[in-house]
Amino acid sequence: MFGVYIWVVRVCGESSTDIIIDVGGMEIGFMNVVCVYASGGGVVKSSGLDIFCEMSRVRHHINPYSVRTELSFAGFDVVRPLVVDIGAARGGFVRALADVLPACNFIACEIRPLMLQKIMALCGDCDRIVAFGGDARRNFRSLLEPSLTAGAELRQVFVNFPDPWFKEKHKKRRFITPEFLCGIAEWFPVEAEFVFQTDQEFLYRETQEYLAETPFAVRREFDESPHGVMTEWERDKVARGEQIYRMAFGL
Ligand SMILES: C[S@@+](CC[C@H](N)C(=O)[O-])C[C@H]1O[C@@H](n2cnc3c(N)ncnc32)[C@H](O)[C@@H]1O
Repeated sequence: MFGVYIWVVRVCGESSTDIIIDVGGMEIGFMNVVCVYASGGGVVKSSGLDIFCEMSRVRHHINPYSVRTELSFAGFDVVRPLVVDIGAARGGFVRALADVLPACNFIACEIRPLMLQKIMALCGDCDRIVAFGGDARRNFRSLLEPSLTAGAELRQVFVNFPDPWFKEKHKKRRFITPEFLCGIAEWFPVEAEFVFQTDQEFLYRETQEYLAETPFAVRREFDESPHGVMTEWERDKVARGEQIYRMAFGL
């Protein structure tokens, strides 16, 4: 059934009202938005809301170089240990993790605008989760650094089932590249770790080869879902009987 759905996003603190249109699952509005759910009340704050009226198919992959939104996050009202979910998709993992780790704050970043809407709907009741729409790699430092400067301990950065970008010429679009890791090595806390999970063995091996070109090293490989929480992608792959490759790495 072909339907037209219109979401109206009223931006608190600004006078504008913007419209995102999803026509039968096709994105017409392509929104780059910086959103923070405030505690309890479901308030959406936004700094910078751009709509590019661009007809496109539902996107399974977005070239991160095409999303140039500059994000920043001043930090949580209450300083707690910090956990980050890169490519949070619908937000199921970060929402479940927030229940399992009640002493932590969470930053989720997702490049696909419609997925960001789903994260916000799922996580809006939790003032320990903030969700951002944009390229996590471009904005990694600006999203994390103010919290770290305020004294938050960075615990884990989850890179769960990242887009593999198979073709050689597209590999630079991956979240984890040697260039990215070398670029953050100067400020990434030594106690923190990346948790990397994938169902793609070649991606896992190539990422390990990438690490060898950086100051980062594998700390452990493991079999079980971290904190006993499965991601959406993981649940699907496990149901199909596929193997999952997991490692933690840090400085
Ligand atoms: C294969 S899905 C996995 C989703 C989720 N992590 C899971 O395990 O269920 C990869 C997700 O990462 C998002 N993504 C890819 N590149 C990204 C980037 N540079 N910044 C933020 N999100 C990104 C995609 O839009 C997609 O939702």
